[in-house]
Amino acid sequence: DQESDIGRDLTTLSRHVLSQIGTHDPDAYDMSALMNRIGLAGKMVSRRLSRAGLLEDALGVTGDVNVQGESVKKMDQYANRIFVRAFEQSGLVCRLASEEMEKPYYIPENCPIGRYTLLFDPIDGSSNIDANLAVGTIFSVRQQEGIDTTGDADDLLQPGHKQVAAGYILYGSSTMFVYTIGKGVHSFTLDPSLGEFILSQENVQVPESGSTYSINEGNYCHWEENIREYIRHLHRQPGYSARYSGALVADFHRILFQGGVFLYPGMTTQPEGKLRLLYESAPLAFLITQAGGLATTGKVDIMDVVPPKLHARTPLIVGSRKDVELATSFMK
Ligand code: AHG
Ligand code: MN
Ligand code: MN
Ligand code: MN
Repeated sequence: DQESDIGRDLTTLSRHVLSQIGTHDPDAYDMSALMNRIGLAGKMVSRRLSRAGLLEDALGVTGDVNVQGESVKKMDQYANRIFVRAFEQSGLVCRLASEEMEKPYYIPENCPIGRYTLLFDPIDGSSNIDANLAVGTIFSVRQQEGIDTTGDADDLLQPGHKQVAAGYILYGSSTMFVYTIGKGVHSFTLDPSLGEFILSQENVQVPESGSTYSINEGNYCHWEENIREYIRHLHRQPGYSARYSGALVADFHRILFQGGVFLYPGMTTQPEGKLRLLYESAPLAFLITQAGGLATTGKVDIMDVVPPKLHARTPLIVGSRKDVELATSFMK
């Protein structure tokens, strides 16, 4: 009814962050402004994606290859630039690290006041862009502790427990913003007519078990035998369905809300797997842990892993507690 609608529409992203931290805390305004900036960048990416087919230079590749060895999509580059520009003027962060930038981007004039580092995957699932399928942005915020003497952000090579905030934007049938600052997981839906992310669910909890598993079965011949055994076990379970979208954020979001398990395991061809720790697996591990689920490499908790380098990869098994426990029982 109209009354509740009015109440809900006033819980914007920035207001929610303030209420989470409490306005007595001086950090509240910085973190609220930081989340709002991420939201602004997300709204600009969402707007461009929604019209990509009508624009001269939104689809397809740039012709460059990034530090990951991947062909860079025009949207990868656009989204990366949007995030850099949104934070250059903000005075909130001192450094940006992204899948698309070999080295971190320092914002020197802001360094004295900036004390956060923003790590992000500007477009996750970018192979879906030209097929008009869901893609996302993943972000992680860390407190700047040390001085980076090498310029390689060695002070960032810390376990996921050091994250102060994490979340993602899912550019799906609706554009959603999901975040945690360590006080639960909260989801917002973009109301394009207001240009605001409005709270849609607080304290999201992942079901303790689900009925979908998400893995690229095209890699079957590269998996270790224990993964094959686990997947064959699931094939024998009545009622289990396979769902795999090609975008980690979309597959993760389904699991967060409906339960299940996502796996990108190490392979004989790539023992560390494909997904990057600092701006893909660690932020999602923070979220799933806050929502009552689990995230492991198959051997250890993702949040305990210390990356050897900025773009380190790691195997990822993430989702409902019971499903992840079953999967990892095959990997001991
Ligand atoms: P990105 O587009 O940021 O490089 O990430 C793609 C990742 C992830 O989103 C997805 O789950 C996975 O790559 C898909 O990899 P495969 O095509 O090898 O299954
Ligand atoms: Mn990529
Ligand atoms: Mn990604
Ligand atoms: Mn990406």
